[in-house]
Amino acid sequence: MQPGVGKNAGSLAQCRMYEQSELSGSWEKTEPHWNVYHRSDSETILTFRLKHRQEHQTTKQAHSSVSFHSIPDYIKKMKGNLIIICVSLAANFQYGNAVEKFKLSSGHEIPAVGLGTSWIKLTEMDEAIANALELGYRHIDTAFQYLNEAAIGAALKKWFQKGGKREDLFITSKLPTHGNRAESVEKYLKQSLKDLDLDYVDMYLIHKPFGFKEGENMTEAKENGKIIFENVDHLAVWKKMEEQVTAGRVKSIGLSNFNQTQILNIYNNAEIKPSNLQVEWHAFLQQRELLEFCKKYNIVMTAYSPLGSPVWRGKFHNGTDKSLPRLTDLPEIKEIAKKYNKTAAQILLRHTVQAGLAVIPKSSNKDRQRENIEIFDFSLSGEDVEKINGLNKGEMGRVFDFVYYYEGIDKNPQYPFATRAV
Ligand SMILES: NC(=O)c1ccc[n+]([C@@H]2O[C@H](COP(=O)([O-])OP(=O)(O)OC[C@H]3O[C@@H](n4cnc5c(N)ncnc54)[C@H](OP(=O)(O)O)[C@@H]3O)[C@@H](O)[C@H]2O)c1
Repeated sequence: MQPGVGKNAGSLAQCRMYEQSELSGSWEKTEPHWNVYHRSDSETILTFRLKHRQEHQTTKQAHSSVSFHSIPDYIKKMKGNLIIICVSLAANFQYGNAVEKFKLSSGHEIPAVGLGTSWIKLTEMDEAIANALELGYRHIDTAFQYLNEAAIGAALKKWFQKGGKREDLFITSKLPTHGNRAESVEKYLKQSLKDLDLDYVDMYLIHKPFGFKEGENMTEAKENGKIIFENVDHLAVWKKMEEQVTAGRVKSIGLSNFNQTQILNIYNNAEIKPSNLQVEWHAFLQQRELLEFCKKYNIVMTAYSPLGSPVWRGKFHNGTDKSLPRLTDLPEIKEIAKKYNKTAAQILLRHTVQAGLAVIPKSSNKDRQRENIEIFDFSLSGEDVEKINGLNKGEMGRVFDFVYYYEGIDKNPQYPFATRAV
């Protein structure tokens, strides 16, 4: 196959970039961070980040893109004070090369788009993972509690057999709520590794700050059909999480569904700081204060349910506004989508990634998976970002308050969320 030919293939264009100095006017070769993105046989979009040199040695991150049509060798393009010279099409690549990554405090990088796997049917997992990997997804989100890790492991194995490399993947798993005690950490992580058929995971998160009593066969204990809550010693659990890094079973560790007080308690006592916080985030629930907090402590946030979890919104009702429409149906989002020639889902995901969060949309459908990862060839204007910021409903927009699953959990002292005004 020719480089760049075929729907899922891309072309790595070899380019040189020259930047004109604002002071002297001279042209100097500069090293951008490239995302080369092939759209079709006739158009290639190059997206790049550049640290602009400015007066007084200050630098500014700029995110920009330029498109080339039918690239012959030595095509030249000017953009502001930049000249980009595209030398040749060098090699094939998959869409994955275009996905931005966020640097974690652990030194590793998390791809800005991952595949959410909760609620992908086990019978559809093989195909869903194979499709996602083909489209360039390299980040996969799972958890012991999703009971799907063996199915994911089987799908990954097939990919490895075809030449896929472990080091190219970023796999997240989570310590279940009924394993939320120091002596259970290693046992549950080892079980996840066994099911996933991996030697290590890239990220291991404590799934929730509260805990449940453990029953038989690594399940939740129940009394009269009800889960039994158990207090969690966060610092003791975290210490064991750190030991998993030292033992090589996990590269980076983090938290999910924790609030600021709970995070700070761990952060202040940790030897290995949490580098990731996975929480619900979408246009109706933009947790801006939490985001600022995470930025301050160098914790990358991952947005779960980034499309607003349309299926579950209708089912949960503990104070949440059930009447809220699907985010993808909002006229404001549709209007912006039309303007950028993108889908509503792409606008929602782009808005979140642009705010600095990784996203893990779930889809079993290949076309929607493709949509969800093709969000790196455009940027939303400040005005459009503001419009979407304005859709935030705060706590009323939350879908996963967990009360639907665990009756009475909102009265638990380790419950992380603010009470909603009903
Ligand atoms: N840490 C936690 O406590 C926690 C909690 C909840 C979720 N999560 C993680 O976050 C992931 C995603 O969350 P989620 O599944 O609740 O919600 P979501 O990703 O916001 O929404 C998924 C739903 O949107 C649909 N969809 C996907 N792409 C679409 C597109 N381009 N256009 C229109 N509809 C689209 C999907 O249907 P199709 O499949 O038919 O495309 C599915 O019904 C989960 O799978 C899980 O990995 C973590």
